[in-house]
Amino acid sequence: MTQIVALNSGSLARAALVLRGGGLVGLPTETVYGLAANALDGRAVAKIFAAKGRPQFNPLIVHVCDLEQAQDFAHFGALDLALAQHFWPGALTLILERRVDSGLSDLVSGGLSTVAVRVPAHKGARDLIRLCGFPLAAPSANVSGTLSPTTPAHVAQSLGDAVDLILADGACAVGLESTVVDCTSGAPVVLRPGGVGAEALSDFLDRDVSYDLGEAGGAVKSPGQLLKHYAPGIPVRLRAVDVAEGEALLGFGSLKFMGVRGGGAVADLPDERLRNLSEEGDLYEAAAHLFAMMRALDRPEHKGIAVMDVPEVGIGIAINDRLRRAAIFSS
Ligand code: TXA
Ligand code: MG
Repeated sequence: MTQIVALNSGSLARAALVLRGGGLVGLPTETVYGLAANALDGRAVAKIFAAKGRPQFNPLIVHVCDLEQAQDFAHFGALDLALAQHFWPGALTLILERRVDSGLSDLVSGGLSTVAVRVPAHKGARDLIRLCGFPLAAPSANVSGTLSPTTPAHVAQSLGDAVDLILADGACAVGLESTVVDCTSGAPVVLRPGGVGAEALSDFLDRDVSYDLGEAGGAVKSPGQLLKHYAPGIPVRLRAVDVAEGEALLGFGSLKFMGVRGGGAVADLPDERLRNLSEEGDLYEAAAHLFAMMRALDRPEHKGIAVMDVPEVGIGIAINDRLRRAAIFSS
């Protein structure tokens, strides 16, 4: 059985040993739990792909403890440096040209000449990277295509014995993955909306943020955009204004005007059929709850999950991105 251990100096030292030996560690970050391996060790990185069932063309994010370490692996232009200085540590992943002398496993960048890097805001994660002395490749710690994990228990449920050790530090503060920004073509382009909101980025850049979410049928910049993502095992129905017979409800804000088809009130739905992302309509709270609540409602006895509208602003953009992908790919 995989061991789940509370994050402290003893378990950090143990995790560093596992990683040094080429093993996999479930790693808390402020966004979601990661499945970490030594990014310099090709065999260890290969284990990540095997454990997740992830196609090898889909590259991983390299986690480092600070900007100085990041510069060992990627080339930073003036704007990239400014972005890193402003947003790191934090939920921003930069896609940069990879240094030829980086020493990173080729698998990490899926054969591309670029590399994704970020400095997590989670102090325990940075402490572990520092203790290891090498960078950590870490995708979200879930089977490819399924909901991302925001608690240690989610990691164990999804990956089981494929993880050698899970460092437990409660629920993730942000609850959604990092914002991925491609910095390799002059002006930064958001490839995946995430924990750093569009407003924060546009304020910093002093102009509107451009997006390339791989939806328009153009060239795909981020291999992960092509893939099935965030899918529960039952259908997801968006923009719900009522709940159908047998459906579960994922609410946002007041449920006062939600109806139940065939009669009855939302308040009378049994607990296992009802979750509210944020009763106050707070988008940050909603982001932190999203994946855990989708999991809780993802039960075979439900016909599907009806999801209320979430405003398309701030981190709501990232929430809706995940919900749309869940709706497209759900069975
Ligand atoms: O918050 C996060 O980013 C979490 C935590 C653990 O740090 N990690 C995470 O990793 O979400 P993952 O592997 O699930 O998502 C990484 C995304 C994928 O969509 C991948 O295609 C993209 O980043 N990516 C990685 N390297 C890339 C590259 N060189 N060029 C374009 N996209 C890249
Ligand atoms: Mg993922």
